[in-house]
Amino acid sequence: MKKTVVIAAVFGMMAAASAQANEGQQTYQQACFACHGTGAAGAPKAGDKAAWKDRIAQGASTLHTHALKGFQGKHGVMPPKGGRADLSDAAVKAAVDYMVGMSK
Ligand code: HEC
Repeated sequence: MKKTVVIAAVFGMMAAASAQANEGQQTYQQACFACHGTGAAGAPKAGDKAAWKDRIAQGASTLHTHALKGFQGKHGVMPPKGGRADLSDAAVKAAVDYMVGMSK
């Protein structure tokens, strides 16, 4: 009986973690790829380690804030939520984490 509960809890955690990863990937593809997939408008390309190194060094919470509120840097303008005001904060943060994961 106890064993079943533990197994169910582990599966629940795995499902939650992969749902979050999927949300990040989907949001990235729908709302971020246009700039971050190609480097358009001066955006740091996802997967370009050199372009992301100093950005990642600022810490996740700074990157989340810049993605949510927008950011004017040396290379261009990052619009708030990538211009997609309809996205939830959680979806935008997941997309940031997804890009950071590709760019380390
Ligand atoms: C219209 C183009 C465009 C779209 C769409 C866009 N970005 Fe950006 N983003 C930029 C540009 C340009 C920069 C770099 C600004 C600079 O450093 O000069 C940037 C920078 C960033 C940074 C780094 C901020 C920092 O502190 O260095 C993060 C994180 C980011 N974008 C997340 C996202 C996410 C998440 C999405 C999708 C929800 C997204 N962006 C969509 C153009 C875009």
